[in-house]
Amino acid sequence: MPAKPFHLAWFLNFVTDDWTGTWGDGARDWTGDFYVEMARDLERACFDYVILEDKLMVSTAYGGTMEADLKHGVNPKHDPVPLAVVMSQATSKLGVVPTMSTSFYPPFLLARLCATIDHIAAGRFGWNIVTSGEDRAAQNFGMDKLYEHDQRYAMATEYVDLVCQLWDSWEPDAVVRDRETGVYADYTKVHTIDFVGKYYKSRGPLNTVRPVQGHPVLCQAGASPAGRQFAARYADTIIATANKPAEMKAYRDDIRAKMAALGRSPDECKVLFLIAPIVADTTEEAFAKKRRWLSDPQFIEFVLAEMSSITEIDFAKFDLDAPLPTVTTNAERGFLEGFARRAAGRTLRETLADEGMGGIGNLVGTPEQVADAMAALMEEAGGDGFLINTPVMKLNRRYVTEIADGLVPALQRRGLTRTEYAFDHFRDNLLAF
Ligand SMILES: Cc1cc2nc3c(=O)[nH]c(=O)nc-3n(C[C@H](O)[C@H](O)[C@H](O)COP(=O)(O)O)c2cc1C
Repeated sequence: MPAKPFHLAWFLNFVTDDWTGTWGDGARDWTGDFYVEMARDLERACFDYVILEDKLMVSTAYGGTMEADLKHGVNPKHDPVPLAVVMSQATSKLGVVPTMSTSFYPPFLLARLCATIDHIAAGRFGWNIVTSGEDRAAQNFGMDKLYEHDQRYAMATEYVDLVCQLWDSWEPDAVVRDRETGVYADYTKVHTIDFVGKYYKSRGPLNTVRPVQGHPVLCQAGASPAGRQFAARYADTIIATANKPAEMKAYRDDIRAKMAALGRSPDECKVLFLIAPIVADTTEEAFAKKRRWLSDPQFIEFVLAEMSSITEIDFAKFDLDAPLPTVTTNAERGFLEGFARRAAGRTLRETLADEGMGGIGNLVGTPEQVADAMAALMEEAGGDGFLINTPVMKLNRRYVTEIADGLVPALQRRGLTRTEYAFDHFRDNLLAF
């Protein structure tokens, strides 16, 4: 009997593509052409969606200066929203999911932007909802520091309620386009919302037509208790990190229980786990590639700068040859806790040399071997699929091809991922199995 198929998505940063390695194109410009080409590759491989990460600052967390951040191209990045639009124009089935922060976008503008892109993308738009984690980002918006972690989720809960009400301010059949009566939209089917919350207020209605999907697909990555509760309330898909099958299972079981408690069917949300597979023609070549990447002298500083950026903890001050001290953050708490669990009993250098920023390890080998390992992970942990990321965060065409034209066909031969899209709209494909 064929295995139950699972979903695939790609986690992307709109940063420079590989410019230091042999296989990159040198990150010549910011036209987005590299990523648009990649969107076509992902659609050829029948991915559900591509998520475009975002941050709104250049970080000084590592060593108290912008040097490492800029040197390694950690945070120089461009706005993911226009890129998502261009990607949608180059594809016809792939979901496009840029990140937008509830801490900085006014809700009315965000609701309007999402509705507009869901039309431009013909029902394939999704929003990766983040609350942001960096005081340095807050300082770009006139604040001294960000709200406290759990308060950000309390505000985001109200924010998303408001945005959903704005999308619903147009009934599905409000647009009549009746040539006889000369009526474009029936005013009795478009309503003010008169939203008055603790943090936000908005009259409505939205002055854009209801999104093609009603509500664009909502994506989230809450890892802390408050974040999980938020994700369980709203998300159609969750992107998560875990270190081992038992953690994957515990995370997904928790989300499913929270969804049921909120009156949602747990199958309405697809939980995808972050992985960074390394494939090559032979097992030896794949492991050699992994060793080569992780021993790059630039790599450790690059990863530490990246980790500093997302946690706002200065990783430059830690002894690489000692265990990670106990650390806490007001930023990406869930990520830090996962990393700390992985680092337990090892030095920081050993942890980084083994897995970089981590995810679920040991997906290294031929496409056939990695496909089997992914099947086994899903079997053991339960889950809805995987979110693929480059192991070194230096993305080039070769890596994309190895996945889209090497690993995915091996998965498809096993009946593990789709070979064609059943629907035109993003959510329909996501919920198809
Ligand atoms: C795969 C993945 C992608 C994420 N992308 C972003 C992002 O683009 N921007 C951002 O500010 N936070 C991003 N986050 C952070 C989450 O929004 C969230 O803050 C994090 O998972 C920690 O959970 P917590 O906030 O509940 O502690 C991402 C997290 C994960 C796991």
